[in-house]
Amino acid sequence: MKGVVFVELFEFIEQNYDTFFLQDVIEAADLPSGGVYTAVGTYPGCEMARLAAAFSQRTGLSVPEIMKKFGQHLFGRFAVNYPGFFGESQDALAFLASIEEQIHREVYKLYPDAELPRFDIGDRTEDGMTLIYHSTRHLGDLCEGLIRGCLDHFGGRFTLTRETLKVDHESSVRFDIRKVAA
Ligand code: HEM
Repeated sequence: MKGVVFVELFEFIEQNYDTFFLQDVIEAADLPSGGVYTAVGTYPGCEMARLAAAFSQRTGLSVPEIMKKFGQHLFGRFAVNYPGFFGESQDALAFLASIEEQIHREVYKLYPDAELPRFDIGDRTEDGMTLIYHSTRHLGDLCEGLIRGCLDHFGGRFTLTRETLKVDHESSVRFDIRKVAA
């Protein structure tokens, strides 16, 4: 996983707690990297799992809850750090429909060794869509948080439902996103 995600996780923890709490989480996670990340570096995904577990033990929040909250925060950070990716999409549905073909394609250009998920889009109408997430990294909770962050960012009222389709070497999660009639 790219260091940029770890850097944002640390900022998220620090913002919600403080520097001492963050140091405590890092020490408890006993990370092979020592918890020193650069944005462009690549680090084992298990370090994210260890950090989330240590965070969870100290707060009582479950790991899925943490990953969802972090994903929601992360989207806001992406909006600040990568404004160029937001040029053409006018709303959340258009943005979400463009992740695979545009957003993550640009991410590959910046970080050629990025490990990104695949998405299938279905049932696309003016008012909604399904987004099926596929990844060997099993980050469906992070994905849900990112989707929620995207819906928050663009505004409007939506329902988001989620169904796990497969948990195997690769996991697949179906998200159904529908506009709530005004
Ligand atoms: C401006 C918007 C976005 C940017 C710049 C961006 C960028 C990135 C980057 C840098 C990574 C890390 C890759 C790695 O660690 O190797 C990543 C991973 C990921 N992105 Fe995006 N992303 C964006 C929007 C989204 C949205 C809206 C979703 C949700 C639908 C999403 C879903 C994911 C997931 C789930 C991962 C984790 C990798 C995996 O599960 O396989 N991203 N993205």
